[in-house]
Amino acid sequence: MPEPLDAALTEVRALLLDPALTRAVAAGRRKGQHPSVVRAELRPVTLKAGPRIQISTSDGHRPYTRNVARGAEADAAVDALLAEPFGNWHVETTGATLQLRVTKSGEAQVHRAAADRAAPAAEGHDRAKDWLLDPGDPLFAEIGGSAAKRRQVDAFLRALAATLPDDLDGPLRVVDLGCGNAYLTFAAYRWLAQRGLAVELVGVDVREDQRRRNTELAQRLGWADRVRFVAGTIADAVVEPAPDLVLALHACDTATDEALARAVRWGARWVLAAPCCHHDLAAQLRTRPAPAPYELLTRQGILRERFADVLTDSVRAALLRLHGYRAEVVEFVDSQHTPRNLLIRARRTGAEPTPEQRAEYRTLVEQWQLTPRLETLLAPR
Ligand SMILES: C[S@@+](CC[C@H](N)C(=O)[O-])C[C@H]1O[C@@H](n2cnc3c(N)ncnc32)[C@H](O)[C@@H]1O
Repeated sequence: MPEPLDAALTEVRALLLDPALTRAVAAGRRKGQHPSVVRAELRPVTLKAGPRIQISTSDGHRPYTRNVARGAEADAAVDALLAEPFGNWHVETTGATLQLRVTKSGEAQVHRAAADRAAPAAEGHDRAKDWLLDPGDPLFAEIGGSAAKRRQVDAFLRALAATLPDDLDGPLRVVDLGCGNAYLTFAAYRWLAQRGLAVELVGVDVREDQRRRNTELAQRLGWADRVRFVAGTIADAVVEPAPDLVLALHACDTATDEALARAVRWGARWVLAAPCCHHDLAAQLRTRPAPAPYELLTRQGILRERFADVLTDSVRAALLRLHGYRAEVVEFVDSQHTPRNLLIRARRTGAEPTPEQRAEYRTLVEQWQLTPRLETLLAPR
């Protein structure tokens, strides 16, 4: 339920000046208004001179940091920040988390949660600092999920953190393709919103029952106006406007190709896709002779399958490069948490591929007589 903005900002002020403050971020902008800085972050620091609140602001180009003493100096600095027309505030204290978003009509949409910094029993030895998203975040009590899934998702978000620029300003449109039970979707929303970004996130899955379940969950979390779900295929689901960021975690087999192709057609700025099983090229390798002298790589079933995995993701990254992306394949999480631990990470540069890149790709697929699914999906219509 929207609340009066003034009252909500008074609550934010009290938390910012509370000695229990651990971190706060302000970012985004209100409709038709422009704050003088794109982002502000506050955290407590202890200097020789005593405790201070450190305030770091960024005008989008250069950061500026100052430390203010508690009392009149901190009061004035906090009041000045609260007077800026930021669109979002995220405030954490040792006892509570508050997220405030200013709606188009100038009211406050506030989410409050009690902080519980204890690590979950299954991972009792982990400390909160080992995680990007605190495992004690009340979000996890709502969305459930195994310890392994939590690890995968946290590692995926770390890779996302390393991909997005530090001075990114919202709004950010995100899609999670093949979202399943939306564990990544909700965790990504939480993390991006904590960065102070105004985020609109759409989860796509072919299963209507998942759409219903995930939509109910978004309503329970109070996020239904920012996190919504669509039942449909990755190739055809209606997602408008086009997203800036495309996520896909373990979309089955060629669903990953559909996700990459969709991202290219949308012109998404960033793509992070952790592939699942790879059957497409494995099946093609079974029925075609390997070029000499590489038959040794494909004669035995298990080696052929593993080779197909490597070939598939190499080809995917190569095709992304041919379509104006800087692409790399990295291990995003230790294999103890999932054997499907590779991540294709791409950033759109718009660079034209070189003749050598085109020739390299063409030679590879022609020698092996392969037609990768992604190539077909990206072919001009
Ligand atoms: C292995 S699950 C992964 C779910 C989730 N991303 C995660 O990591 O927990 C793959 C999901 O992709 C969905 N899926 C597979 N192919 C799809 C397609 N072509 N279009 C939309 N959803 C698809 C399935 O219904 C399933 O929920």
